[in-house]
Amino acid sequence: MAQTIMKQAVMSGVCVVVGLTRRTSARCLATTVKNLAAVKKDRELPVEGEITKSVFMSQSTDVYTNLALEDWMYKNMDFSNHHVMMVWRNDPCVVIGRHQNPWLEANVPILSEKDIALARRNSGGGTVYHDRGNLNITFFSPRERYNRKYNLELIKRALFRSFGIKASINEREDLIVRDKYKISGTASRLSRLTAYHHCTLLVNANKSDLRSALAKRETNATPSTPSSVANLVEMDNQVTVDNLQTAIGYEYLRTAALHLEDGGQNMISKQRGFQFVNPTDEWFPGLDKLKSELQDWEWCFGKTPDFTVSRSFPVPAELLAPSKVYSASQELAINMSVVKGLIDNVTLNIPPGFVESGFHGEASVITHLKGKRFTSEALTALQEAMLTRHLVTDIKKLDEKEQFVAKCFDQVVNTI
Ligand SMILES: *[C@@H]1O[C@H](CO)[C@@H](O)[C@H](O)[C@H]1NC(C)=O
Ligand SMILES: *[C@@H]1O[C@H](CO)[C@@H](O)[C@H](O)[C@H]1NC(C)=O
Ligand SMILES: *[C@@H]1O[C@H](CO)[C@@H](O)[C@H](O)[C@H]1NC(C)=O
Ligand SMILES: *[C@@H]1O[C@H](CO)[C@@H](O)[C@H](O)[C@H]1NC(C)=O
Repeated sequence: MAQTIMKQAVMSGVCVVVGLTRRTSARCLATTVKNLAAVKKDRELPVEGEITKSVFMSQSTDVYTNLALEDWMYKNMDFSNHHVMMVWRNDPCVVIGRHQNPWLEANVPILSEKDIALARRNSGGGTVYHDRGNLNITFFSPRERYNRKYNLELIKRALFRSFGIKASINEREDLIVRDKYKISGTASRLSRLTAYHHCTLLVNANKSDLRSALAKRETNATPSTPSSVANLVEMDNQVTVDNLQTAIGYEYLRTAALHLEDGGQNMISKQRGFQFVNPTDEWFPGLDKLKSELQDWEWCFGKTPDFTVSRSFPVPAELLAPSKVYSASQELAINMSVVKGLIDNVTLNIPPGFVESGFHGEASVITHLKGKRFTSEALTALQEAMLTRHLVTDIKKLDEKEQFVAKCFDQVVNTI
């Protein structure tokens, strides 16, 4: 990547300080960090001409590291006379908004099967899928100068200037191509002094993985209208994540800081240029702590607002009491409430036919689910409880009826 950008900078004869070896570090950033807490709300911000800009390129592809870096910058840097656009990409992951429910937004069992990370970010908004075919961009600015429209417009201009791709911005602030295909997702976070707006652009993400990772559980909630997404390579097969980030980086540097005026090469030469950022705790003291908080189960899953899942399963005829005719289909109903990601209450509604056939293990096994994480861990506990009750060690030896119940619980937790 370094080579590519260097080559492009040389080839286009643009005079940009490409920080190939100069690592941006907390130590050098610290000179710009005043004591943020002491900065007054009604501070005076510099005029446009005094603002310089940088494009930071994160060298990490780990979602937790990148989210931590974003957080670190948000909390520690002063952007009043230095605006920053950061670009990075992630290994396959699903990123949910601060207040979302991972079990409703993503196909959690598929994620672990496919080794796709799940992360909860600090900003609000919806769920996005990322892989290496996807470019993430964060625009940092002082809060007073937060301007989503400017940022999106800038991306739109870069797409047209470098690739001739015509995009538009819809009322939901998504970038759209060919009138309806979404190529971006957007979210933001604002504090007293600082703001960031991040968005993600689909370049050549694996759409089949995207779809399976984001497949939703059926709920009673109003389904959100799924929008069709497109990869930018479908518009122009020359687009890559690398050349797109270069294109948007240059567009950012050649545009005036506060309004969408193109300053060309002259403007570019006044900026601080592209800088590689190595997100380690050494350079950004405290980064590891932020990262471990983001990776924590308590944050990713435990932060989920309380919810309940209800499912019913028809009891197979052979498990019902024989030689009896039942008036309606016999269904086993499971209701499970989940609080802070832990199973809190379970009710099992057993149909008459199943009771009469001699199933009565329910109460003792259900208690084993309480307090367990809403994951396969709960099912293991359930099966162990059933086995212990029978003093057997082989799951196949379990009573067929209990196996059926265990399977139903498995479906409640593991299928969507
Ligand atoms: C990238 O941008 C998307 C869209 O706003 C956001 O959901 C996601 O959290 C961002 N990724 C990271 C690693 O911050
Ligand atoms: C997407 O990923 C799946 C595996 O998860 C793979 O089989 C498929 O070839 C990939 N598609 C593309 C276009 O890379
Ligand atoms: C299960 O939940 C559904 C919907 O949340 C509710 O209508 C039903 O009464 C509940 N059943 C039991 C046995 O709690
Ligand atoms: C568990 O659910 C049942 C049935 O919905 C309800 O009667 C009971 O009060 C609940 N228990 C707790 C601790 O919430």
